[in-house]
Amino acid sequence: MNIQQNISLKPFNTFGIDVSAAQFASFSDNIELEALLHYHSSEKKADKLLLLGGGSNILFTKNVSGLVLKNEIPGIEKIKEDDEYVYMKAGAGENWHHFVMHCLENNYAGVENLALIPGNVGASPMQNIGAYGVEIKDIFHELEAMHINDKTTVTFSKNDCAFGYRESVFKNKYKGQFIITSVTYRLRKQPVFNTSYGAIQQELENTGTKELSIQAIARAVMNIRSSKLPDPKQIGNAGSFFKNPEVKKNQFDELRLRFPGIVGYDVGNGHVKLAAGWLIEQCGWKGYRRGDAGCHAKQALVLVNYGKATGSEIFELSSKIIESVSSTFGVTLEREVNIE
Ligand code: EPU
Repeated sequence: MNIQQNISLKPFNTFGIDVSAAQFASFSDNIELEALLHYHSSEKKADKLLLLGGGSNILFTKNVSGLVLKNEIPGIEKIKEDDEYVYMKAGAGENWHHFVMHCLENNYAGVENLALIPGNVGASPMQNIGAYGVEIKDIFHELEAMHINDKTTVTFSKNDCAFGYRESVFKNKYKGQFIITSVTYRLRKQPVFNTSYGAIQQELENTGTKELSIQAIARAVMNIRSSKLPDPKQIGNAGSFFKNPEVKKNQFDELRLRFPGIVGYDVGNGHVKLAAGWLIEQCGWKGYRRGDAGCHAKQALVLVNYGKATGSEIFELSSKIIESVSSTFGVTLEREVNIE
């Protein structure tokens, strides 16, 4: 067990915010994790316990006074298969895109629309990651997680996870209680292509794709993502900073009368999901920069750190955006990124 003191977290968060952790340790298997949890609970040397995966969905606004644990549990293995499906189990510390590439190389279908999403496998069910018409819940089989107090390993089925839009039981009822150690996905041997998201169709046409394949879809997704979303290695960011808000159909109709260009998608149940990027852009924030904190010029839903912004500066910018969207449209944006 190697516990480091006063470590900068800058390399461990894609926003590139320079805060420190009083204590920091990584673990690569359940035994190491259990030992660290025992250390934390029995020694009481650190009050707060913060779990980090790829650090791609977090904004640090202050130093962390407690213990930061970095999940580095590796491994990708096929655990079973039948005529239709293969079941792939991945360690929570595996890089998500690396897992996607592994599936593409083996012709396992279902993750192609989710190519190039930053972060690790462990975070994928936590916030039910999604892109281009697919969410993790569509291919999720089960996961294993360690209970922080009991140190027991619990298996969660899809139902147990209560997935919603960028939501799961781990962000609500069980927040701060479990550490996800592995996730098993159910992938198809025969692909069911999902090109319903307009931008994919367009990109497939632009690149002259004649024969549809999971590899072609992944390529299209990667092209779209890299043209719109900043690469965290170059410009600090955590993907979409806000969720796309849902409003009632009648509120949407009223808004459309006042703002005919408004972008929304029917999600059933009498609700419409609004494109927050559009709302933010209309309020004039797209491309805004103050100091090193900014709103990305190609996708207004993404806030960026051009270098030395503090987490508080980015948080303040997000508050101003929330206020201005609320006063213009009467719609309250919710942050998608976790604030620490
Ligand atoms: N739009 C604008 N201006 C902008 C950005 C978007 O007008 O600056 C409008 C456009 O009309 C566009 C529509 O919003 O057609 C939707 O934009 P986009 O396809 O870029 O998707 P999004 O709704 O902004 C969501 C996810 C992304 C995911 C994409 C593609 C959320 C919070 N974000 O963004 O996920 O990649 O769809 O499926 O749901 C993430 O969660 O970190 C993330 C990047």
